[in-house]
Formats: sequence, structure tokens, C-alpha cells
Amino acid sequence: MSEGAGAGFLNTFSQTKVGSDTIFSWWARYQEAVGSGHDAVNGTIGALLENNGELAINHVVDKVVRESPPIEISAYAPLKGLPAFLDLAITLALGDVREELESIGMNVTSTASPGGSGALYLAAANFADRGDKVLLRDRHWGPYDGFLAGCDLGIATYPLLPSKDVEGSFLDLDSLQKELAKLCNSQSKVMSWLNDPAHNPTGLSLTEQDRYNFLKCFIESSLANQEVSHTLLVDAAYHLYAGQPHGWADTICQLLHDGISWPDNLLVTFAISLSKSHTIYGLRTGALVTIHPDEQVIDRITTVMGVTGRQTWSATSRLAQYAVSQIHSDEELANNWDEERERLQNLLEERRELFIQECDKLGVPINPTHDGFFAWLDCEDSVSIANECAKNHVYLVPLDGGVRIGLCAIPTDKIARVAQALSQALS
Ligand SMILES: Cc1ncc(COP(=O)(O)O)c(C=O)c1O
Repeated sequence: MSEGAGAGFLNTFSQTKVGSDTIFSWWARYQEAVGSGHDAVNGTIGALLENNGELAINHVVDKVVRESPPIEISAYAPLKGLPAFLDLAITLALGDVREELESIGMNVTSTASPGGSGALYLAAANFADRGDKVLLRDRHWGPYDGFLAGCDLGIATYPLLPSKDVEGSFLDLDSLQKELAKLCNSQSKVMSWLNDPAHNPTGLSLTEQDRYNFLKCFIESSLANQEVSHTLLVDAAYHLYAGQPHGWADTICQLLHDGISWPDNLLVTFAISLSKSHTIYGLRTGALVTIHPDEQVIDRITTVMGVTGRQTWSATSRLAQYAVSQIHSDEELANNWDEERERLQNLLEERRELFIQECDKLGVPINPTHDGFFAWLDCEDSVSIANECAKNHVYLVPLDGGVRIGLCAIPTDKIARVAQALSQALS
């Protein structure tokens, strides 16, 4: 099909949209290999699979969803979200320090959204001026580019990792400061998106010190550029499978306890997704949770996000909001959900540890990787590396700047084969 087809019907921006099926085309290659009788390894999919290849499902969530009353399935949810869910989303974002943050004067609001993607859209649509650039790390989830472009936003980037070895740090603070300063000189609003902890596509999580330095950098920039509003969006799509799930809320708390007063022109917002944490990818539920000391700012954001949702997707699906709120308001159900979540986290940890160990043995230079669904090999010609791996029937995803290894999909007993295939491909 010619990409020029339909040009007469499509507006100029829409004509730039081209299918990017890299992940699906590599998944299809894996399936073809299985169909031809090969013992193939699937490292392509971005969903958590059990060791037998089936989708991992948190059965506590599944049961509560199935037993929900008809009215909770059929009725609209309130436009901004079910109140119990909105409250829960704040707890999911901030964890145990929620109360403390609220008691020291932070106000918080949340808006339900169709998945974390909906939350990202709410932020893109409202916290940046059209034509501006949003600050990302150079390695980031591909769909960010599209969410931003759809709101007429460009991107500026800084490197994922520091170029020189800064003992125990995974943050290129110098580049972050420089890029932030550049944007402050040319825009009246600056927004940065950071997928942490458990970054897609690398599995990287910043350390406690990195988070502190990061946030301090934003606070200092906000103080030095009072006329520029700063929004830090923490994309928490995988945080409940990380060692420090609520590290960002802890860091905010720590900075406030260190006596740093919060600048009026700094907002922190969390994109929450239930897709992975509650294994309800298809029920499309998440939230945007925003924190700021000024109650009036928070009230205004509540209105604006609600109106944006109304004008984009109407209300978010009610069923998952209801079911998940039920689970978390019942101690026994909540504990059972958490046990299952922990089992899945352990599965990921087991695969990751083994992968790191095997790569170490074979000298495969994978990126630092700590939590979540993925690992990553930075390389220039990712397609040829992935093609070499495919010769051994190990299927991974070549992306810009590296190969994504979907630990979430690879059975534990096939992990060693992935390290071997990468080692051979590199040699
Ligand atoms: C980094 C990142 N952010 C956000 C999302 C949004 O997920 P969803 O819209 O399914 O909740 C994903 C999903 O893969 C992701 O990988």
C-alpha cells in the first residue's frame, strides 16, 4: 500500500503517520518459527508471560472483575473517575508517605484515564505549549514521540547514562542541567517525562541519590527561572514491580524534610497504569496524579483534566476502577492481590538475575538493568544483532540504539539461550 494513498482525505499531520510494527513483526517471526517446528524463544512481547508462555493473570483481580455487579459493568463512570478509585490512584502513586506529604502541606489530585497512555495524553495536552519541546532521555518508550507529536510537541533529549563513570550513578546530571537550562531560555513552560523506576526499554531504575539530584536540579531550575513553569512527569507504568516502587514520593518527602521549600512554579505528576500491576492491560485503566502545595492550582488542574478527558474519550471505563477499588478496600483481597503481584515480581527478578549472570559469564555488555519487564543491549546496528539472534531462533526487538530483551516473556529456562545468542551475534 502506498503511503500517499488517501492523502486527499488526511490532514497534513495525519499524512506523517506510518505504521511502526517492529514489535509485532518480530513477534510474527517468532510465531512462524514455532509454526515450523523450531524450539524458538520469544523475547519480543511487552506483557508478562508465565514460564509456560501463557499471559500472567493476577487471579484476584480476574475474580473480582468477573463477580462485579451488572451496574458496575454497564454504567458510565463519573467523568473524572470513581471517587474510591481516584483516592486509590493517589495511594498507588505515593505509597506509605502519602499521609506525610499531605500533612506537610502538599495537595494532590487524580483523574482517571484509559491506561497510563491516557494519563500521558492528559499531560501532553495540558502541561506544555504547542510547538514546544518536552525533555526525555534518549532511550525512551517509542509511543512517547507520537503522544507528543499529536499535541504538536517536539522532543529534546539527554543521554540515558552518564558518559563517564560516576560511581554508582545512572543519571547524566550534567546533561540534564544543560538541556533544562536551554529549554528555560526558549520556552515559558518546561515539561520532562521520566519513566522510572523500571524503565522501558532497559529495566533501569535510578538510585535514591540520583532521584534526589534529579529533583533538586528541577527545584533549582524552578527557583532560577521563576517565570518558567516546570512539570516533571514520572511515568510509573511498571513501578509496582520495582524494588523501590514509591521512591519518587519518598524523595519529595526527603527534600521537604531537608528544609527545601517547594517552588510555586514546580509541579510533579505521576502517570499511573493498572495494565501491568493488576494484569488488566485490556481494561484500559490508569490515572494522572498531580502534587503541588497550592490547593487552588490543584483544583484548577482537576477541572482541566476532567474537561480534557470529557472532550477526548468521555469517561474512563468503570469496571476496572470499581473492581480494583474493591480489592484495595478489603484487607484480605488486597493481601491476596499483593501476594500474586509479589510472585510475578519474583519471576521477573529470577529471570533478570539469571540473564545478568549469563551475560557476565559470556562478556555480553548489556546495559544496567534492575527492575520491571525489560533488559537492553545498546548497539549501533540493532537489526543485524537481532537477525543474528534469530538464526538461533531467539527473537528480540531491534529498536533505535539497541536491542530490547523482553525478560517478561522469556521462560526462565530459556534465559541462558538468549545470552548465548547475543554473545554469538556480537562475535
Ligand atoms: C513506559 C510505558 N509507559 C506507559 C505505558 C502505558 O501503558 P497502558 O496505557 O497500557 O496503561 C506503557 C505500556 O507499555 C509503557 O511501557
